[in-house]
Amino acid sequence: MNDRLKTIVDLEKYPIQDLNSSKIKEIIHKCKTDLEQFSCSTIPKFILPKSLEIMNSELEKQINEVYMSKQSINAYLYSKDDPSLPKDHPKRIFMDRDNGYLNSDLFPKDSEMKFLYEQEELLKFVSACLGISPIYRWADPLACHAYNVMRPEGILPWHFDSCEFTLSLMIQKPEKGGIFEYCPNIRKPGNENFEEVKKVIDGDRTRVRQLKLEPGDLQIFKGRFTLHRVTKVEGNRSRYLCIPAYVLDPWRVNTPEHSKAIYGKVLPIHLERNITRSDGLAD
Ligand SMILES: [Fe+2]
Repeated sequence: MNDRLKTIVDLEKYPIQDLNSSKIKEIIHKCKTDLEQFSCSTIPKFILPKSLEIMNSELEKQINEVYMSKQSINAYLYSKDDPSLPKDHPKRIFMDRDNGYLNSDLFPKDSEMKFLYEQEELLKFVSACLGISPIYRWADPLACHAYNVMRPEGILPWHFDSCEFTLSLMIQKPEKGGIFEYCPNIRKPGNENFEEVKKVIDGDRTRVRQLKLEPGDLQIFKGRFTLHRVTKVEGNRSRYLCIPAYVLDPWRVNTPEHSKAIYGKVLPIHLERNITRSDGLAD
């Protein structure tokens, strides 16, 4: 284990460097149960306060390089309408989105967050919590461990992620609002479940759960199968999160359309690797 890891993660509470310890086994068991039932699990105060400060300041140093995108988008992250579908199809429902990313390729070499993402200990711990192996770090150079910024009035409407597994690390909470809401296991490979997705988008709250994250908390989340959103940020303080992601396919990256819309640019890798997905689900 690299010594730097113990300055970032609270290894006393969460000894992820030793997956055989009874302490971590208990935590993994709880996460696995939560993930199976709710497709989401939270590990409180995973990151040490000092490291959180470092992450906060590395993001603020580059805050002017954050790509903010304000657009009308559907739950599959497309902004183009498809008139061949029925009028009330969820792919034809467009919602306001105002949200930004500090792309992963802009992180300095010695970045605190980049270092954490690259540690085998974190990958193996997340894999154990999910009960899925192997999982991989995401090959997308812009999106793999981006900082997410939601300014006052920012909003992230209902959507599915492109990557299967998303970690959310809360760095700075807004004064009010900016609440994460999700509908566990609403779609699965081969079954989009458009009817239920539409109900949620139309305002049905039956399936909706809320998650309250505090700074330093780590959330593990099955974002590709779980419809989710972040409510409008209220007050004067922005909401900062880091979103390291893991995938089942080590080769795949975002589609060019998706990358352009969300991260502001398309790299050659997005064009080279743009083929239909094997799980049959829409991005
Ligand atoms: Fe998401």
